[in-house]
Amino acid sequence: MMWLKAWKQNKENSLDQIALERLPRHVAIIMDGNGRWAKKRGLPRSMGHRAGVEALRKIVKTCSNLGIKVLTVYAFSTENWSRPKDEVGVLMTLLTEYLRKELQELHHNNVVIRAIGGISALPSEAQKELENSIKRTQNNTGLILNIALNYGGRSEIIDAVKKISNEVLNQKQKIEDINEKCISDALFTKGLPDPDLMIRTSGEMRLSNFLLWQLAYTEIVVTEELWPDFGEKSLLNAIKAYQQRDRRFGGIHTD
Ligand code: FPP
Repeated sequence: MMWLKAWKQNKENSLDQIALERLPRHVAIIMDGNGRWAKKRGLPRSMGHRAGVEALRKIVKTCSNLGIKVLTVYAFSTENWSRPKDEVGVLMTLLTEYLRKELQELHHNNVVIRAIGGISALPSEAQKELENSIKRTQNNTGLILNIALNYGGRSEIIDAVKKISNEVLNQKQKIEDINEKCISDALFTKGLPDPDLMIRTSGEMRLSNFLLWQLAYTEIVVTEELWPDFGEKSLLNAIKAYQQRDRRFGGIHTD
């Protein structure tokens, strides 16, 4: 299915008050609250995660239709390994299933699939599916769907420090030339713009080790909705809130 055509034909889509020329280029999301969503309904946590995948499918579609360049989603953190083995298994299976089921449609809609984090520690099935999806979509030119898996901001920075130290040791890098770009380029997100908007669902006011370097000047919107309830309208509201912010990047306005 071609998403954009169907979306444009649906008269119910209201883009009122959204300035399409000032969209965030990069949206990052902490998809929190799957467990609470399930608990509220007396369902097992796995059903909450399943509903979370459905929410993700819709948000990917909306971001693509809007023309947003990059969507980074926090699917599994380095800390999530401490959850019960069954739940870790469910999350990995859902990832594999998602890629298997959605790849065709994502590819058809010009989406580029990417991943950040310690991918080599994922179960081999998930890795295989991920590698296949990345390879298949690498030449697409639409939305970059960047999935954070076994991702931790601190461990990403540690890796970057090691990489740069090695370059210094091998005389490929001078200490006095180390700058922000050099550090950005040593992170998993190399080549991507920093997020303009970071959304966290479920009301929690934490970064939880997500994109620590990249979020330095990002506008943060926290919504009370649980992730499975977060839909197209919720995203548009977050974008509206973002567009009402006064981004100064540490400076002041002179007008
Ligand atoms: C937080 O909810 C959510 C996660 C730890 C995982 C997010 C994963 C998905 C939305 C689905 C899998 C992803 C892909 C890419 C297919 P929580 O379990 O911490 O909720 P709680 O705080 O209410 O318990």
